[in-house]
Order: sequence, then structure tokens, then C-alpha cells
Amino acid sequence: MIKRGALILVAVLAVGLAGFAAFAWRPAIARIAPPAASSFSPQLVAQGEILAGAGYCATCHTAKGGKPFAGGYPMQTSFGTIYSSNITPDPETGVGAWSQAAFARAMRQGVAQNGSHLFPAFPYDHFNKLTDADIAALYAFIMTRPPVSAPPVRNRLPFPLNIRALQAGWKLLFFHPQPFAPNPARGAEWNRGAYLAEGLSHCGACHTPRNALGAERKDKAYAGAPIDNWVAPPLTRANPSPAPWTEDELFAYLRSGVARYHGVSAGPMAPVVHAGLSKLPDSDIHALATYFGEIGGGQAREADTGPVVEKALAADRLGTGLQYDAPARLYAAACASCHYNNAKGPNPLRPDLALNSAVNLDDPTNLIRVTLYGLDAKSGAPGIVMPGFARFSDADVARIAAYLRATRTTKAPWPDLEKKVAAIRAQGKGKE
Ligand code: HEC
Ligand code: HEC
Ligand code: HEC
Repeated sequence: MIKRGALILVAVLAVGLAGFAAFAWRPAIARIAPPAASSFSPQLVAQGEILAGAGYCATCHTAKGGKPFAGGYPMQTSFGTIYSSNITPDPETGVGAWSQAAFARAMRQGVAQNGSHLFPAFPYDHFNKLTDADIAALYAFIMTRPPVSAPPVRNRLPFPLNIRALQAGWKLLFFHPQPFAPNPARGAEWNRGAYLAEGLSHCGACHTPRNALGAERKDKAYAGAPIDNWVAPPLTRANPSPAPWTEDELFAYLRSGVARYHGVSAGPMAPVVHAGLSKLPDSDIHALATYFGEIGGGQAREADTGPVVEKALAADRLGTGLQYDAPARLYAAACASCHYNNAKGPNPLRPDLALNSAVNLDDPTNLIRVTLYGLDAKSGAPGIVMPGFARFSDADVARIAAYLRATRTTKAPWPDLEKKVAAIRAQGKGKE
């Protein structure tokens, strides 16, 4: 009896496995001779360049010190390290032999030219929204880059996560590709913003929390999430900045990296602004601002700005050395020489800390990172730096954070700050 039961089990498993294999199987798409660069119109290539910027292709597909688009950039996921591919038109190690149909299938379905499934570290879960015209322009741009021979770097994923066919199961659960569907209840500008945010510029890839299997939680779109040892704040009504994210503030932040009442784009947000969105026309940045001005409810709260800013400026005056307790002195010595504001209003180049998300988030990570490591010339306002305070002890960095939280906000104190500082110091400065 036992033997027969075992046989049935094996048979069921075999049928299941065969069924899954059939389900997971995708055909290869025939290889082509690399198309001549002259076969693409210069206008199409130029359009593709702008789109490639807005999709951050170079940020993920260029290794530190490596040739542009030649891949090998490591992506740390909670499952292991995945290396990006060489997407230069080298026929052997890149995508030179990929037809436009093969490229479109990769972008929309996460399937490579040879039929193997790609990992969603490649944001095809957003790129599937792209129009045919945008895919054609991206293809023209990619196929006209200088080819680079760079063999793939082996991923570091534990068995069985390294089996590509299993991605078909992940897709079955979490991936439902659909072309972008405009919302008829909204205007053209809002819909353009939605198309960019949800598709090409995949804002949710960082700002939306993920489930245990690494899929974005659609029920928590833009609710804020940890990313690369930083926190991407919520872009919803849960955003903790006291000042509303109006369309004007969003436009300034996304266009220049600095918003007067909010602060600067630091960490992984810096390349989004300065490398990613920078070639998009102002009209597209306005479209993104319209979309998030509604999602975050900031545009509707525009009138709150004046009173909230008044309050913040008052808190700052209180902090600049009038209170002779030890943390206030530490703050005055380390930070207040730059982070003070006069009664006229915040100086956008020295973010007002009472208004800054770093001080208002439930998680102190961003504030601790900025305090320890400062901000380089590429973050925030181009060319403007903030020195780091890595020489301060964990206790002193924690003291400054606790002081800012207590004097600049009405929010609950952060627990275990000193331990958190030590943990962030141990992670190191990281990529920026
Ligand atoms: C967030 C990081 C990230 C961004 C942004 C990104 N990619 Fe990728 N891409 C990857 C990773 C990682 C892989 C490899 C996935 C794998 O091995 O399964 C990949 C794979 C690919 C592939 C398949 C290549 C092959 O040989 O299988 C193509 C094509 C591609 N990307 C094109 C693009 C284009 C075009 C853009 C910009 C519009 C882009 N990628 C933006 C991370 C990214
Ligand atoms: C690679 C990850 C990543 C992507 C992609 C990304 N962001 Fe961010 N974003 C972050 C991080 C991290 C921060 C926090 C930066 C800081 O503290 O200065 C941030 C900050 C922001 C802020 C400021 C929030 C605040 O309260 O201070 C806004 C607004 C924002 N992002 C909008 C966007 C939009 C719109 C997109 C898409 C066009 C986008 N982000 C794409 C990671 C990302
Ligand atoms: C020498 C001047 C200077 C000092 C001292 C200084 N900062 Fe800054 N800080 C800046 C500048 C300038 C920026 C904006 C940088 C940019 O635009 O890239 C900034 C930005 C910030 C931000 C905003 C980050 C964001 O994402 O919006 C925070 C938070 C911050 N500083 C905290 C501190 C703290 C805490 C101290 C003291 C330990 C401190 N700063 C000391 C000049 C300074």
C-alpha cells in the first residue's frame, strides 16, 4: 500500500512538474544580424535617449567604473545579488542580435530573447505599460550605442531561487501585464503623469512597500518603503512633512532637486532627479507634479503652507542656542551655523529641518545617514555639499537626532537611536 501511494505521489508530482514546465516555457525569438545604426532615424534615437534617462536604464545597467549600458551592476535584494545585463548591441554578450519584437517582449513580459524568464529586479512589472512608440524609440537608442563585449556576471542567488523557470510562478501570482489605461475622469496632464510614474519612471519601485516575495503591494501604492539602506518616504497623504507637497513644490523638487519647503533629493533619489528625469521637458515634470499633487493631497492643502512654515521657523529660532542644554549646544555647534533661517522664510539651499521628512519620518534612517555621511555635490542642489559628521560618536549623532525630533516635531521620540546609528555606520556610506 505504502509503495503504491508513493508511486501515485511521484506520478502526480511528475505530471505537475511537466505541467509547470509547459506553462513556464517561452519560445526563443530568432536572432538577427545587428541592425545598422543608420537604419534608425536620428529623431527616434534622440527621443529614445530622453526615455532611457527617464527609465534610469544607465543607472542600473552601468557598473561602477564600467562602460555605459554594459551591465554588471549589482542589485542587492532580500533574496541575493542580481547583476544587470549588458544591453549594448554587442551580438555575443549584449542584445545586438535581438529583434525589436524580442526587446519588446523583454520590456513587457520579462522574457529574454532565448525564452528564459527575467528577474523582476528588472522593472518589467512597470515597463509593460509602455506604448509601442516608446518601445521603438528605446530600441533605436539602445541599438545605436557603442557595442561593448562584457560577459554576464553570475548572480548570487541560493537554490532554488536561481532557477529562472520558477519566475513563471512569481509572474502567475503577481504580474498582470496591461498597457497603460488612461483614467477618463482625469485630464491629459494627470494621465501623462500617471503614465510616467507607473510605467517608465517606476516611482513605485522604491516608494511602494513589497511583500515577502518581493512584489509591490498594490494596496499600498506609494506608501513609502526602505530602499538601498535609505527610506523612500510615502508620496501619499501619509507623507510626514508638515508642509503640503503642492504641485509647485513637487515641480521644484523633481526638476532641480531642491524644494523650498521640503529639502533636497538625497541618496537614491539624487540620480532619479539629476540623471533620470533631467532630460524630460518641463511639461512632463509638471505632469508628474499634477499626478502626485493629487495622490498626496498636497495641492488641496496648499493654503496650509504659510502657517506651517511660520511654525517651523519659530521652532528653529528656539533651537539656535537659546536653550543651554547639552544637546542644544551640540546642535548649535554642529548644524546651526548652516541650518538656521531668518524670519523671511526658509533658504532652500539650507533645508529647514522642522519641515524636512528626514526629521518627521517614523524611521530616523535618512537623518542619520545625512548626518554621518553628509551630501555630495551630486545630491540635492548640484554643486552644493553638506559635510559629514562620521567622526562624531554614535551617542552624539543620536543626541542630535533626538534633539531635532523633540524640538522640531510633535511626534513620538525615536527608540534605540544609538543602536540605529551604529547599525547605519556599519552599513557604510553605500552607493549614492
Ligand atoms: C532597477 C534597475 C533596472 C532598471 C532601471 C533597468 N533595468 Fe534592465 N535589467 C535590470 C536587471 C537586474 C536585469 C537582469 C535581469 C535578469 O538577469 O533576470 C535587466 C535586464 C534587462 C534586459 C534583458 C537583457 C538580457 O540579456 O536578458 C533588457 C533588454 C533591459 N534590461 C533593458 C532595460 C531598459 C531599456 C531600461 C530603461 C528603460 C532598463 N533595462 C532599466 C535592471 C534594470
Ligand atoms: C531608486 C529609488 C527611487 C525611485 C525610482 C524614486 N524615488 Fe523618490 N525617493 C527615494 C528616496 C530614497 C527618497 C528620500 C530622499 C531624501 O531623503 O532626500 C525619495 C524622496 C522623494 C521625494 C521627497 C519626499 C519627502 O517627503 O521628502 C519625492 C517627492 C519623491 N521621492 C518623488 C519621486 C517620484 C515622483 C518618483 C518617480 C518619478 C520617484 N520619487 C522615484 C527613492 C526613489
Ligand atoms: C556647512 C553647512 C552645513 C552644516 C554644518 C550642516 N548642514 Fe545639513 N545641509 C547643508 C546643505 C547645504 C544641505 C543641502 C545640500 C544639497 O543641496 O545637496 C543640507 C541638507 C541637510 C538635510 C536635508 C536632507 C534632505 O534629504 O532633504 C538634513 C536632514 C541635514 N542637512 C541635517 C544636518 C544636521 C543634523 C547637521 C548637524 C549634524 C547638519 N545638517 C549640518 C549644510 C550643512
